[in-house]
Amino acid sequence: MERQFWIDSWREGGSKTSFHLPAVHPHARHLLDGGFVDGARVLVPLCGKSADMPAFATRAAEVVGVELVDSAVHQFFADNGLEPEEPAPGVFRSGNLTLLHADFFRLTTADLGGPVDLVYDRACLVAFPEDMRERYVAHLTALLDPGARYFLNTLDYLPELPEPPFSVCPDRVRGYFGGHFEIEHVFDEPRPEHRMVEKFGLSRLTEHGFLLRRTATPMSVPPVPSPAAEPAAP
Ligand SMILES: C[S@@+](CC[C@H](N)C(=O)[O-])C[C@H]1O[C@@H](n2cnc3c(N)ncnc32)[C@H](O)[C@@H]1O
Repeated sequence: MERQFWIDSWREGGSKTSFHLPAVHPHARHLLDGGFVDGARVLVPLCGKSADMPAFATRAAEVVGVELVDSAVHQFFADNGLEPEEPAPGVFRSGNLTLLHADFFRLTTADLGGPVDLVYDRACLVAFPEDMRERYVAHLTALLDPGARYFLNTLDYLPELPEPPFSVCPDRVRGYFGGHFEIEHVFDEPRPEHRMVEKFGLSRLTEHGFLLRRTATPMSVPPVPSPAAEPAAP
């Protein structure tokens, strides 16, 4: 989705920012409980004002969020009672929490201030339509060193919708990332109670979690399956 879509979403708030969850996501809790965050430099792309970031900051060496919309950045610090410093334009820091007010697609390894140990992606890959999603995959892959971990949360539902969050099935995840990552499918959770099921009349919705590890050498890539036929109107 283009820049203006997200600026408008944050301006309107309410149902337009219903992706924001007030509590720590269970998949983030899994990473915390499993020790994946301990001492790590954690990158949260497309971070919004996610409540997972302060939770990670209690255990991580550093948490770096990247967010396009400045009001989301400011809301994040205000909601958490923090007054960030701005050591450089667009860099907001409080303790070991740094939010970069930036376009993820323009982010460089230098902007990240050091190697990333763990990426946490909730509602990021699925925020983009197919063409932008492929750019996102390529850019994220290029930012990571071999050995880096990447936790990916996706939604897979029918009928597909022409707006975020887009449906991304496990085969497509393997197609996007199989060439550069080892992939472990850790959560496969049917969610009939999910708010989208009733709102859009979905026939099914499953939430997935994958733990990926960046490999040093490219691996053979399974073909990315084509998207399902025409998405249904919401
Ligand atoms: C679906 S929300 C997910 C937010 C967060 N991950 C969460 O779990 O609440 C996507 C977020 O990414 C931001 N965003 C969209 N495009 C972006 C880009 N190119 N660079 C950085 N942030 C972007 C939007 O403003 C929005 O806050």
